[in-house]
Amino acid sequence: MNGNILIKNASELVTCSGVTAKQGKEMADLCIITDGAVLIRDGIIISVGKTHEVLELFHETGADEADIPVINARGKAVLPGFVDSHTHFVFGGYRAEEFSWRLRGDTYMDIMKRGGGILSTVAATRKASQAELKEAGIRSLDSMLSFGVTTVEGKSGYGLDHDTEIKQLEVMKELDKLHPVDIVSTFLGAHAVPGEYKGRPDEFIGNMTETVLPEVVQRNLAEFCDIFCEKNVFSTEQSRKLLGEAKRLGLKLKIHADEIVPLGGAELAAELGAVSADHLLQASDKGIRDMARAGVVAALLPGTAFSLKEPYARARYMIDNGCAVALATDMNPGSCFTESVPLIFALATLYMGITTEEAVTALTINGAAALDRADSIGSIDLGKKGDVIILEFPSYKYIPYHIGVSTVEKVIKEGNLVFDRKL
Ligand code: NIG
Ligand code: FE
Repeated sequence: MNGNILIKNASELVTCSGVTAKQGKEMADLCIITDGAVLIRDGIIISVGKTHEVLELFHETGADEADIPVINARGKAVLPGFVDSHTHFVFGGYRAEEFSWRLRGDTYMDIMKRGGGILSTVAATRKASQAELKEAGIRSLDSMLSFGVTTVEGKSGYGLDHDTEIKQLEVMKELDKLHPVDIVSTFLGAHAVPGEYKGRPDEFIGNMTETVLPEVVQRNLAEFCDIFCEKNVFSTEQSRKLLGEAKRLGLKLKIHADEIVPLGGAELAAELGAVSADHLLQASDKGIRDMARAGVVAALLPGTAFSLKEPYARARYMIDNGCAVALATDMNPGSCFTESVPLIFALATLYMGITTEEAVTALTINGAAALDRADSIGSIDLGKKGDVIILEFPSYKYIPYHIGVSTVEKVIKEGNLVFDRKL
């Protein structure tokens, strides 16, 4: 694996060019080069353009196509690798039973109130060994890679105690080294109030803030801090306290905001300068405008609304009001057990009023922006990581059109071919 590859003759090279989030109308522009090529050396993109231009430059340097892996992408579209900016993919146990209860009519919050839901995954994750968590994590990462995901965010939050929160974050660090998919870690110690703190959420927040957060920062185990800001979980006050301290210690912020009840999470994200606010099914008009003004990325998770049979977030309104929207799977064992990028494309385009172009932006450069990495991934631009995917169809337009089916034929991670459906 040396990180060198030349991809040429792409019917569409969908560059999604840019180094910052695309807001509002900008989301529709994919900066497409027809008959395009991209050259990656040592894992970094060093040439992008029309095939004849890239080849001319390539030969001028005395290089020879026989000395580098070459992919002829004739009749195929080439895009940046997808960035799945919100998941909870490291966990113990599964909750298939709970899915059946929800089919019978129980709500997600009913199940959580009687000690199931997140808390049942917490019990299983506390029991699981690092090796077990790693094995399940690799299974998910393999699945994500097959859908074209080259960077994924993963959260802790199934420990809710010092040792297990740290264990989850250590596992993610380890997986990042082992697996081609890059992992961005988020500390979500305040994901629910654990049994031992029942009725004492303030004390629990105090414990997380004083005993776990400083170690996470000091050992560099996470880049972001997140909280489930929701009625009957954590209030905006409690969220402000934890996130404020995390920011003071140097972490970047995310927030599970306004998912089930409009609590003012979007407004809080803007106030605190969070990188993203996520879910937002119930975000208020003011919250949306505040986010657009403050440059907070709206990370929308249609798979969760679909799976919980909740109304979708108001993506069209957000984009029309100047927000930068990202789309992500929210892969987790409860509210949305899927790594499927094609499902997210289908739901976003068919039910949220998002165009195909906007959806592509939302899963590439804006996904990168939701992880504060728009300067290094999320587009096919000079100097960025050589993370690209090749579709088995000539246009990005086939992504949602081929409903629920992956159109990804090959995945190149930092210049190395790491997935090939044809092999
Ligand atoms: O993003 N909303 C809270 N957290 C997760 C669900 C986690 C779970 O049910 O295990 C979410 O939907
Ligand atoms: Fe989530």
